[in-house]
Amino acid sequence: MEMENPQNQIVPMPRIGDKAPVFNAVTTQGNINFPADFSGSWVILFSHPADFTPVCTSEFMTFASMEEKFAKANCKLVGLSVDGLYSHIAWLRTIKEKIEYKGMKNVEVKFPLIEDITMEVAQKYGMMMPGESNTKAVRAVFFIDPKGIIRAIIYYPLSLGRNFEELYRALVAMQTADAFSIATPADWQPGDDVIVPPAGSCGAAKERMEDKTNLKCYDWFFCTKPISKEDIEKTILKK
Ligand code: BEZ
Repeated sequence: MEMENPQNQIVPMPRIGDKAPVFNAVTTQGNINFPADFSGSWVILFSHPADFTPVCTSEFMTFASMEEKFAKANCKLVGLSVDGLYSHIAWLRTIKEKIEYKGMKNVEVKFPLIEDITMEVAQKYGMMMPGESNTKAVRAVFFIDPKGIIRAIIYYPLSLGRNFEELYRALVAMQTADAFSIATPADWQPGDDVIVPPAGSCGAAKERMEDKTNLKCYDWFFCTKPISKEDIEKTILKK
């Protein structure tokens, strides 16, 4: 997929498996050099359409309330919109001082929020979608791993607030897949059975030899095994 940047040059959109495009930016937490400053951690880089808008406010309150939970899974959060720094600061102050929503109040957004008035970063990451809006970034979510590789991308339109429990589930599922060399089935949650490597691969053969007792096969190409929630938490969560 390709898109035009403000200089009318065609630039490719980042894809899963690509290195995260590099940029320097001003944020509410100081300047950042992305993704180098986050090396060794997972990072979720996400965009929102505009400060001082209701869906975005509900999202920031929710995400900020879950920041510690993401940190325990070695994941940092970085927000972006094409607003300026002073708008960001004023909006985050309003959220902390004035908004009480669904039992959340006094919510302090401690993660960096990038100012991107020039839309340089939004363009680089394919967050501008002219069919949806020429002036606002859509709700994009980039999961970037500790080596700076894009591992998942999710886009939502302007009107649709994200499900942050789903973002957490996706993060844990990818970390579990990496740590245990498995895949995760539909609607997987930690503690549910996982899918062993596809039949025919070396990994699958070895797995079947070593662990016949726990293996459940639905057909030759579809086998699962249990991994306990405790084993997953022991492996991926910080103490
Ligand atoms: C919102 O966050 O409420 C919003 C922002 C842009 C367009 C529509 C809704």
